[in-house]
Amino acid sequence: MVDLELLALARDAATRAHCPYSRFRVGAVALADGLPFAGCNVENASYGLAICAERVALFSAVAAGHPRVTRLAVACVDAPPDDGPSGRMPCGACRQVMAELMPPEAIVVVDGVGDFTLADLLPNPFAL
Ligand code: THU
Repeated sequence: MVDLELLALARDAATRAHCPYSRFRVGAVALADGLPFAGCNVENASYGLAICAERVALFSAVAAGHPRVTRLAVACVDAPPDDGPSGRMPCGACRQVMAELMPPEAIVVVDGVGDFTLADLLPNPFAL
């Protein structure tokens, strides 16, 4: 599956976000064994329970029995066009989860920004 397809699926997943508090829709797609697993952010009235789209996508892949994720696409469809990369990049918590489930050379495709290796996004991740 090529990046344009992954990004299209990530944008589509963002339309399913549950984000009544931030109104900031995010979609993500994890590619594992050639299969796409989509996620969107899901917020909660108890704000700290919100989960990012990236982690939903990664956990969906694991739950489906495909824990080896080789690529991840992310689309922050509500990021203002002039804001630059910062409002589109994966958060630190999601980077740590990526490091658990993706190899350092795996590519993270950020819609409107570009491609990054996981090692670039999170050098020296915590590991046990
Ligand atoms: N969010 C994501 O889904 N992914 C990120 O990498 C950063 C932020 C979500 C969490 C929350 O629902 C909303 O965006 C605003 O922070």
